[in-house]
Amino acid sequence: MPWRNHPDPYAVWVSEIMLQQTRVETVIPYFENWMGQFPNVTTLAKASEQDVLNAWEGLGYYSRARNLHKAAKRIASEFNGQLPRDLTQLRSLPGIGRYTVGAIASMAFGMDEPTLDGNLRRVFSRLFDVGQLADSPEGEKILWSLAAKNLPKGQAGDYNQALMDLGATICVPKNPRCLLCPLIEICESRKNGTQELRPVLKTKKSVPHYIQAAAVIVNRGRVLLAQRPVDGLLGGMWEFPNGRVKSDPVRELTKVINAAYRLRVRRKEALGIIQHAYTHFKVTEHAFLCDCAPIPKNKNLKWVRLDGLDEYPMGRIDRQIAARIKKTTSK
Ligand code: ADE
Repeated sequence: MPWRNHPDPYAVWVSEIMLQQTRVETVIPYFENWMGQFPNVTTLAKASEQDVLNAWEGLGYYSRARNLHKAAKRIASEFNGQLPRDLTQLRSLPGIGRYTVGAIASMAFGMDEPTLDGNLRRVFSRLFDVGQLADSPEGEKILWSLAAKNLPKGQAGDYNQALMDLGATICVPKNPRCLLCPLIEICESRKNGTQELRPVLKTKKSVPHYIQAAAVIVNRGRVLLAQRPVDGLLGGMWEFPNGRVKSDPVRELTKVINAAYRLRVRRKEALGIIQHAYTHFKVTEHAFLCDCAPIPKNKNLKWVRLDGLDEYPMGRIDRQIAARIKKTTSK
């Protein structure tokens, strides 16, 4: 992993943020590209939001990228471009919570600090057969104290990363590979036969499924994009005007587009159906080529050249629509 044994705290920080909710194999090429484009805090602080979001495109959870950018600006102005070694100052930066503080302090600064991500929660829950709900305040407290209590002095960074690797490769969520585990002799849940029952988690609610309709309005080599509000899902990114429908995307398209953007569109042919699963819901989006009455003034709408769509950061659904437009218009 290219961030391992990296002398630069900035590299450790970037990798830890990318690795939240994202697998190592996915992160590696993004990390390499990011370090080429923004090799230090100062270059990141000076970059445009659009360049930052473009470099992140495809990794998901885009608030992570915006927080990295915000934090870089603060580190540049308040800390002379160097990540602070002080735990409270680190914690005050956008996007840096207790987990990231522990990871950066132990891995980048060699401090004796514990950390706790999803992998470590599972490993400690099993090693010490923790029966409390792992994502309850009580469970959290127990797991953090186990992480701190067993930390070998002077080796916290290696220790934290070794247990992350154990969780990613051996102590995996389903069918843990106990017979390959170097900790088999001391694992309490293995002894008690409870390894499949740990960690104890609340049962997941089933995820809702939304149907959406999108209007792809093309006119003289340009297409109309809308920018999402900066707060919330895919904040600040670009998309084809769209809205959620109750049941029938064909019949409801004009209504939902008018309600959301004050655009009067006329549906032409279907462009495609795109499926995407977010963490808390699933989306099926039906995209249609459309004509449109003159566009009202709206600062969140922009005509963009078809051959310039790559420059606008988008989520997965809209990037797939963009690919289909390219195919259709190049025929
Ligand atoms: N997941 C989060 N941080 C990690 C790291 N430093 N190494 C491997 N996996 C990780």
